[in-house]
Amino acid sequence: MEMHFDVIVIGAGPGGYIAAIRAAQLGMKVACVDAWKNKDGKPAPGGTCNNIGCIPSKALLQSSENFEQAKHHFGTHGISTGDLRMDVTTMLERKNQVVKSSNEGILYLFRKNKVQFFNGLASFTRTVDGGFEVSVAADEAVTLVGKQIIVATGSNVRPLPNLPFDERVVLSNDGALDIAAVPDRLAVIGAGVIGLELGSVWRRLGADVTILEGLPSFLPIVDQAIAKEAKKAFDKQGLKIELGAKVREVNATEAGVTIHYTDSQGQTQSLQADKVIVAIGRVPNTEGLNPAAVGLQLDERGAVLVDDECRTSVPGIWAIGDVVRGPMLAHKAEEEGVAVAERIAGQHGHVDFNTIPNVIYTSPEIAWVGRTEQQLKEQGTAYRIGSFPFMANGRARALGDTPGLVKVIADPATDEILGVHVVGPQASELVAEAVIAMAFKASSEDIARICFAHPTLSETFKEASLAVDKRALNF
Ligand code: FAD
Ligand code: NAI
Repeated sequence: MEMHFDVIVIGAGPGGYIAAIRAAQLGMKVACVDAWKNKDGKPAPGGTCNNIGCIPSKALLQSSENFEQAKHHFGTHGISTGDLRMDVTTMLERKNQVVKSSNEGILYLFRKNKVQFFNGLASFTRTVDGGFEVSVAADEAVTLVGKQIIVATGSNVRPLPNLPFDERVVLSNDGALDIAAVPDRLAVIGAGVIGLELGSVWRRLGADVTILEGLPSFLPIVDQAIAKEAKKAFDKQGLKIELGAKVREVNATEAGVTIHYTDSQGQTQSLQADKVIVAIGRVPNTEGLNPAAVGLQLDERGAVLVDDECRTSVPGIWAIGDVVRGPMLAHKAEEEGVAVAERIAGQHGHVDFNTIPNVIYTSPEIAWVGRTEQQLKEQGTAYRIGSFPFMANGRARALGDTPGLVKVIADPATDEILGVHVVGPQASELVAEAVIAMAFKASSEDIARICFAHPTLSETFKEASLAVDKRALNF
């Protein structure tokens, strides 16, 4: 069977499904092809983010945070809970339900927007007159012809050399979201975003977690004042993070793992654990896509080569999200998807890379937008800083959640905000205010003069902005 479309989107992760919906909204005839199936063999659109990434990890972070709150913090409110236990099976079932409802939500959105969905692996076969031919290996094989193609095939986990994932003892982020019982000892390789988030989940539930990080510094992409404060909080929680650890060999059996590594002092060490999560980054995915059939160029990392507007080396083929350069973030993929659909429709889609927020959903949360102090120093750019601690914020004290701070960095000449960095309660939500401010090119004085509701955590942003001009009121 052969079918013709204005646009074929390959991949239904946050980049692909959003691109497909936006293209359909703009009046195009759209197909979206995605290979993912759930454990019951049913279509599971939503990609890494929905199936084994953003959504399930946040579901487990919430469950484990609730448990930690009940265990360690309810007492200060006068609430006694008696014998507190965590039923891991129920927690995992809830997480699976959250994922399933998002899968179903995307299928509903496809129907609502008249996007034709195909559940199977898409491969380029050839360039045809006025478009491209894509074969879909689904229950019933189909051939699709599209005038324009959007490649949104995402990324895959990166394994350590000679250490394949078995998802029982050697876990990727996939297996790390499905551990059936809390392990006594859990090792994590890589103190990046996944290592910290998933390490936190299992530590909160009672595992003795050690994270081995190869680099000598902690979270080098994060403003170092924020990273230092976060590290202090993780140390206090008992999340062990060993920096400058060079992993040499990992021996894995059904009974557990032994990790041989050299520590930051050059000493040989070994760490034993019941399971290990390997979280050392992700790689762009074009497996099965057969990019050579249409002459699509990849870079040395295997990412599809694109220009600033997501045009590939082949006119008519676009690529977005994790499979191209830039941060591997769901909201970056979504924005590129919208922009590309609008460009195909002859509009002026735009993504502002300077105002893409980053969040690490640990406790305390870490969130930022714009440039860090170390980046500005490296670039030789002048700046002014204002900081405000959550300890001096009434709402944070009422919540009983005071570690952390907000840091605003502004241009000394124009006062335009260059970066905002937060570690503390609800940093993920607070950073949105900073994104809006920066998108509208606000100065720190603009924020300092806005009336924020009291008592709210948001007041820390106003106070940090006041502090840029050395006139914070509550600190
Ligand atoms: P993906 O989501 O990877 O989707 C690609 C889709 O394409 C997949 O469904 C795949 O099956 C399909 N596909 C691939 N090749 C083919 C083919 N040839 N034919 C048909 N289908 C194909 N980001 C955040 O912003 N916030 C978070 O909190 C967050 N948490 C994360 C937690 C974890 C544990 C992980 C692993 C990632 C997390 N991310 C988070 C990153 C986020 O998941 C990715 O940035 C995002 O999913 C990228 O979207 P995408 O559409 O580019 O690709
Ligand atoms: P990452 O790049 O965030 O962290 C990987 C860490 O592993 C780095 O600190 C790196 O120095 C370290 N490392 C690399 N090789 C090592 C080795 N051999 N031994 C020890 N340490 C080593 O990658 P991660 O955590 O795997 O996540 C992948 C991507 O997924 C992230 O970069 C992010 O884009 C996305 N993500 C986003 C989330 C969010 O937005 N909250 C949550 C989770 C993932």
